[in-house]
Amino acid sequence: MRIAMIGSGYVGLVSGACFADFGHYVTCIDKDAAKISALKQCQIPIYEPDLEQLVREGVGAGRLKFETDLGCIAEADAIFIAVGTPSRRGDGHADLSYVHAAAREIAPHLKGFTVIITKSTVPVGTGDEVERIMRETNPGANFAVASNPEFLREGAAIRDFKLPDRIVVGTDDERARKVLGDVYRPLYLNQAPIMYTTRRTAELIKYAANAFLATKITFINEIADLCEKVGGDVQQVARGIGLDNRIGGKFLHAGPGFGGSCFPKDTIALIKTAQDAEAPLRIVETVAAVNDARKRGMARKVAAALGGSLRGKTIAVLGLTFKPNTDDMREAPSIPLITALQDLGAVVRAYDPVGMDQAKRELPDVTYCDSTYSCAANADALVIVTEWEQFRALDLNRLKKEMAQPVIVDLRNIYRPDEMTEHGFTYESIGRPANAKAGPGHHHMVRRL
Ligand SMILES: NC(=O)c1ccc[n+]([C@@H]2O[C@H](COP(=O)([O-])OP(=O)(O)OC[C@H]3O[C@@H](n4cnc5c(N)ncnc54)[C@H](O)[C@@H]3O)[C@@H](O)[C@H]2O)c1
Repeated sequence: MRIAMIGSGYVGLVSGACFADFGHYVTCIDKDAAKISALKQCQIPIYEPDLEQLVREGVGAGRLKFETDLGCIAEADAIFIAVGTPSRRGDGHADLSYVHAAAREIAPHLKGFTVIITKSTVPVGTGDEVERIMRETNPGANFAVASNPEFLREGAAIRDFKLPDRIVVGTDDERARKVLGDVYRPLYLNQAPIMYTTRRTAELIKYAANAFLATKITFINEIADLCEKVGGDVQQVARGIGLDNRIGGKFLHAGPGFGGSCFPKDTIALIKTAQDAEAPLRIVETVAAVNDARKRGMARKVAAALGGSLRGKTIAVLGLTFKPNTDDMREAPSIPLITALQDLGAVVRAYDPVGMDQAKRELPDVTYCDSTYSCAANADALVIVTEWEQFRALDLNRLKKEMAQPVIVDLRNIYRPDEMTEHGFTYESIGRPANAKAGPGHHHMVRRL
């Protein structure tokens, strides 16, 4: 198949490189000329494990190309739109200007039957609008518009793309079904179920999936808060409920609140769609509100660990990106957390293995350090915000020597409270008894309640 990918960001680049790896001929297109010239040299503009190798292989095999110009798309059997759909300023609806612009730009180049596929996450009905724009721009064109939402996760994007739980294809057009069947054949030979639906249903599936996952995270976060008040261990609660197959153990890690390039904007966009349709999603509305308040609230947890006040205190933050193995800072919980720490009078130092260049744009008033231990030097508290592998086995003795006070606030629960106590740290985590194994004190408290 000949495939064109419009937009070469996290989704377009990973999808394009994987399609080339399947044996298709792929051209990744982007308006950003600097991005494309870097990609032509196999320099990857984002941090995503194993992506550089895959791009090199595709380019080496002559199956993966990069262009700023749309001229080449005339030959394509399938044109994917993978441009951004950020939150629109002011009202939180999905900003579809990039998708609409892409449709307008593609239309004049079409030759022969072509399938246009929206891979970007777009509100229900966007496929109709893309079709209308293309028809209006090029009335004689022979095309079908399909929806094929993407479910990959940054940090594990290649594996997710190659071993998806499912592939969703939304179209009523038989020819489009066949083209997408051919595009994804290598995957369903590997047993990935391909699910055909209408275009509107496919568009809804993506938002419903993200809203449900965001709900799961927010649910366990609130259970964690309850655990802290009444003396329970949220990790055991999560395991205890997750072993029930109807619930499932994934996405039940309590933490500082969800962030990232998708969940925050997608939950809000779905809320807006539902309100406009007069079928409000009150659960999702609550999830978004609870999560919003949580991120900043984490600063109060840090203050409490230091006796209540952060004025003049130095706080070392480990991890800035919204999750490990990505450099993506979009809506990272570290941003409202650090801003709140500063508002409370703290001086913030930070270290992240790959995210600091991106972070500097969002958080200019932070001292960026080049390692965990230089970051911890003279700090009154160390806050673990992103669970990068390299933070999982810190040298606690060295850390204690470097720090002004031995206080650790672990927002990802990657350490055991008893281990920290043994090393002489004051240790706070999420939804677990502080500084002790679940000791008798807690049982008494529960009984009293
Ligand atoms: N990042 C993820 O993990 C993820 C996962 C699933 C779905 N999605 C969805 O996929 C879409 C893309 O997300 P992303 O994270 O890859 O965004 P991104 O910002 O990394 O990439 C978008 C790219 O599109 C380019 N672009 C914009 N308009 C263009 C045009 N008219 N022609 C050519 N290029 C153009 C931009 O220059 C940019 O490089 C969004 O709708 C997002 O919600 C993202």
